[in-house]
Amino acid sequence: MKTILFNLESDPQLETQLLGELNAQKGEIELRRFPDDESYLRVLTDCKGHNVVIFCNLYQPDNKILRLVLLSDTLRQMSAAKIGLITPYLAYMRQDKQFHEGECVSSRPFARLLSQTVDFLVTVDPHLHRYDSLDEIYTIPSRVVHAAPLIADWIKENIQKPLLIGPDSESEQWVSSVAKLAGAPFQVLNKIRRGDYDVEVTLPEVERWHQHTPVLVDDIISSGRTMLETITHLQNAGMPRATCIAVHGIFATDAYPQLQAVADVITSRCIPHPSSQIEIAPAIAVATRELLEG
Ligand code: R5P
Repeated sequence: MKTILFNLESDPQLETQLLGELNAQKGEIELRRFPDDESYLRVLTDCKGHNVVIFCNLYQPDNKILRLVLLSDTLRQMSAAKIGLITPYLAYMRQDKQFHEGECVSSRPFARLLSQTVDFLVTVDPHLHRYDSLDEIYTIPSRVVHAAPLIADWIKENIQKPLLIGPDSESEQWVSSVAKLAGAPFQVLNKIRRGDYDVEVTLPEVERWHQHTPVLVDDIISSGRTMLETITHLQNAGMPRATCIAVHGIFATDAYPQLQAVADVITSRCIPHPSSQIEIAPAIAVATRELLEG
């Protein structure tokens, strides 16, 4: 049985890597808008009896999710065997709690929708802060690719005397594992977020690390406020220019130019961006094969 990979509005470079790593056939679809702006979708590749993987990277998800539902439904009608989803960035994980009465805890309905849409899910370091695992909200099998070893390798190859810095207490477990793999010391900050663009961090003692390059490691850069606020403290403490590393570089509005002005910025290839340097395709393929064969 062959595996067919459909790229739904996602990074063609990562698609090519995944096709090679999975030894998969490229699935063809015709996708366009009707004059009334509704979606037209037609699957051009016969997938009867074959495993199918949809590569649909769900950052900026609101425009993609409906087309994912339409594609998956069409593939089922065409009698595909398993239908899996590769989404290096898993959207809607950050609203994992109701902070104000009446607020939608969007991670939950989004998880229900995806669980009804595909048979399995592969992603990279989803934002698991209040949930211990995706199984708390997803009812389908999933595999989480961990970027920590890949980030540690990049740091070992590129930074001399790094001091790793995690932005908040939730990141400690993650930053400590990157630090251990990279053989580097680490510090974790305290963070208070008051709003989308209002973040306060407090820095622990960094004076004794003056000879080190601060390397800020986080799962997501969105508004960039967490990184920017931390860099201001590091500058005030007289630390050298920092390197910011994120698994998922979302870079809302002008976050990237603002960060670039004060630090070197590196992200994984999870979201295509000029800062993307850390390869993730081989690790995603390993996780996908496990679910296809399981
Ligand atoms: C929060 O818990 C995450 O780990 C990141 O620190 C956060 O998502 C970064 O967001 P922003 O770039 O908007 O400060």
